[in-house]
Amino acid sequence: QEVPIREKNIVLIGFMGVGKTTIGQLVAKKLYRDFIDIDEEINQSFDLPTTEIFRLHGEAEFRRVERETIVHHCAHSRLKVIALGGGAYMQEEVRRVCLDHCIVFLIDLSWDSWKDRLPLILDSRPVLQNKTLEEIEELFLTRKAAYSLHNSRVDADQLEPEKTAEEIVQSIK
Ligand code: S3P
Repeated sequence: QEVPIREKNIVLIGFMGVGKTTIGQLVAKKLYRDFIDIDEEINQSFDLPTTEIFRLHGEAEFRRVERETIVHHCAHSRLKVIALGGGAYMQEEVRRVCLDHCIVFLIDLSWDSWKDRLPLILDSRPVLQNKTLEEIEELFLTRKAAYSLHNSRVDADQLEPEKTAEEIVQSIK
């Protein structure tokens, strides 16, 4: 049966390092909802950090567990705020379950703003390893195309996480 719109999970998507976790925690707090970080859930399933999951089990296995974790939380809960990893939305099944059951917010950042953050996140993101800046920009653009399937979007270029979170909260009221 259909979940009322006010009870639907809020899902945050967007490229690595745009602040989905920080913003999601703030949105959850403002709405008195539980927050679920999908990367954190995956790390707990393996009892390993993401870089070690990629190294020991491979990306395909990471993606399988990522997909199952998202399907589990998106389809079988309500009133949650859920932050996805930046690559999750490349899977068709993930896009479908999110759009069918949740309100999907894109946290959008321009390439120029994003590339200044690269040094801060590089070491903890296995998909960025051994890539040139041009290759990373290409990945950024490919991902951007998939992210275009969303219900709402916030431009985080000029905004503090707190302001971005407030914008999301206001837009669902
Ligand atoms: C990934 C993004 C990461 C994490 C993993 C793969 C990606 O999440 O899921 O390193 O392919 O974009 P964040 O978006 O939280 O960095």
